[in-house]
Amino acid sequence: MPTIEVRFASGTRTDCVIEPGALQRLPALCAGAGLGGTPGLLCDARVLSLHPDALLSLGEHFGDPIGRAVSEARKTLPEVEAMCEALTARGVGRDGYVVAIGGGVLTDLAGLAAALYLRGVPWVSVPSTLLAQVDAGLGGKTGANLSAGKNLIGAFHQPRLVICDPLLLATLPSRERWSGLAEVVKCALLEGGDLLQRCERDLEQAAAGEAEALAPLVEGAVRLKARIVAADEREGGQRAFLNLGHTVGHALEAATGYTHFSHGEAVALGLRGMLALCDGMPERDRALRLVERIRIAAGSGLDSGQREAALQAMRRDKKVRRGGVRFVLLERIGTPVLREASAEDCARALAAALA
Ligand code: GLY
Repeated sequence: MPTIEVRFASGTRTDCVIEPGALQRLPALCAGAGLGGTPGLLCDARVLSLHPDALLSLGEHFGDPIGRAVSEARKTLPEVEAMCEALTARGVGRDGYVVAIGGGVLTDLAGLAAALYLRGVPWVSVPSTLLAQVDAGLGGKTGANLSAGKNLIGAFHQPRLVICDPLLLATLPSRERWSGLAEVVKCALLEGGDLLQRCERDLEQAAAGEAEALAPLVEGAVRLKARIVAADEREGGQRAFLNLGHTVGHALEAATGYTHFSHGEAVALGLRGMLALCDGMPERDRALRLVERIRIAAGSGLDSGQREAALQAMRRDKKVRRGGVRFVLLERIGTPVLREASAEDCARALAAALA
């Protein structure tokens, strides 16, 4: 399996390794990337309980894993502070580094801790969920939530390495794999080509956790994201295309208190909503057929109050940007465009998402 090198205009570089068994090669990979000094291993407590032997053996090199019981509700600055206190207790110095093993909440928080600790130390992201491997792991967006919304505090801090081990995905609940596959399908619609064909052929096998089906999908999604973030590290342009399906998706999550839909389920519904607005798009039926295969365990019925809350969440997005609501649409598969959206477009997209 390949290493994908991402070089940013800012001069930083991330190497993404996608390889079954890569977790066990972590000490060698870190040494090969020139990381030295005292490391601090921040680890999602759930991953620690699922893979105790693997992580304790890594402890011989990185010191005992610092287990953190994180959740979306605890994705806060006090948790970042607690991580930094733990790094101090470990004696991690300016020449040291942070290794973060876990889902997107853990890697976002640990990446932010690495950005702030001693005014910034290098870090290594080891995403343990499919969603994190294909999205949060790469691109350097770190963050924490405020009561007003998700990821309202953060920093761009590129990890030196992103290690995606498909073997970690075998222990995921099926609903979590489907959640990650929604992001892979989003990438396939942005990319077309081989990734799209693989999704069409292997989606259910990947959802069942078959490594031979999953690994190429992870690689295809990471390659697409690598290309986009290398060209637009800070989302001044094409990085926004990665938000395909997310304006409606985020609104659905916010309107239902972030507990009803998984992130991927909300994105899958958001993709349906966007495709409804892609009038004249050739292959729209093909795209819809793929999106509709994404399994959504949560019921998609929302009451009228929740629908109104979702529309308001889309409008809040507009207020933060001081412009109109902008949707990512597809002119065709592989050709995304940004379009200003009217209130009527928002209502139409929401209705189609929930139809
Ligand atoms: N999750 C979208 C991005 O990293 O830009």
